[in-house]
Amino acid sequence: MSIEQLADIAQAMVAPGKGIIAIDESTNTIKKRFEGVGVENSEDNRRAYREMLLTAPNLGDHISGAILYDETIRQSTRAGVPFTKVMMDAGILPGIKVDKGPVPLAGCPGEVVTEGLDGLRQRLEEYARLGAKFAKWRAVINIGEDAPSSTCIESNAHALARYAALCQEAGIVPMVEPEVLMDGDHDIEVCYDVTEATLRSLFGALYEQNVMLEGTILKASMVIAGKDCKDKADAETVAAETIRCLKSAVPAILPGIVFLSGGQSDEDATAHLNAMNQMGPHPWPLSFSYGRAMQSAALKLWAADMKGNFAAAQKIVAQRARENGLAALGRWSKGA
Ligand code: 13P
Repeated sequence: MSIEQLADIAQAMVAPGKGIIAIDESTNTIKKRFEGVGVENSEDNRRAYREMLLTAPNLGDHISGAILYDETIRQSTRAGVPFTKVMMDAGILPGIKVDKGPVPLAGCPGEVVTEGLDGLRQRLEEYARLGAKFAKWRAVINIGEDAPSSTCIESNAHALARYAALCQEAGIVPMVEPEVLMDGDHDIEVCYDVTEATLRSLFGALYEQNVMLEGTILKASMVIAGKDCKDKADAETVAAETIRCLKSAVPAILPGIVFLSGGQSDEDATAHLNAMNQMGPHPWPLSFSYGRAMQSAALKLWAADMKGNFAAAQKIVAQRARENGLAALGRWSKGA
């Protein structure tokens, strides 16, 4: 696939007023989400839940793509239509999580590095055949006493760049995600410094591995105080600091940046994105790739009565898509 074709996909992912829904929870992670609402973590419940989300009427109005898990990209609706077909018919690009998750980083106690490069070329070839247009790899950067170390930042950046190069070889747009976690009591300045160092290292590594930025999407965490920090910054400060950090570390040629929600409330995730876009124009479209902030309300409702609340849960996820789509344009307002 040519770089022009990869660039077309990347641009479609961040089309005006559209963003991504992340439903790529591993079987272990969805178990935790299901436990929280009293749903058994069976394959059929996972399939039914993802069918509810992916077939929500009008989802494609504000959703350009959905990130799937390995199990999900092989599944179909109850009526037997492959999820990837349902998505393409609705104008939603199929994406796939391809990393194998974080493991302890040897020599760096308390830090992690994401695995999954072994056999990745073959897995990507298969995912491309199954219809994947983009692929996500998540690196996890923890803020702690002496963390992150430069070893941790560089090891994760190197792996992200190796995966991104393999994606482009397979004709798949890489969505590179270096997530700086919100866990901890650090303030927003510490998050700024760690995020800037992480992004600079990442873009250095992408350059070293000959990754074409025109066909790459960044999935970023916002610059925000830790969950346990007493000094919470307001939405304008989060937005301004996030933009300042991105401008300092992300090349303008990148086609777009999408954010993860990372444990923010639904409303905060939307308000922060909206505030950033109200401060535009920026060098890149800024949109969303939310997991929890797209799903949590719909999951609660669906779990209470899977059949009875099916349509109402679909309405809620479509509403979250609409609100975040407005925020991607800077046109959202609370309660509208
Ligand atoms: P959250 O929005 O729930 O953080 O999930 C997004 C995601 O895909 C993390 O990899």
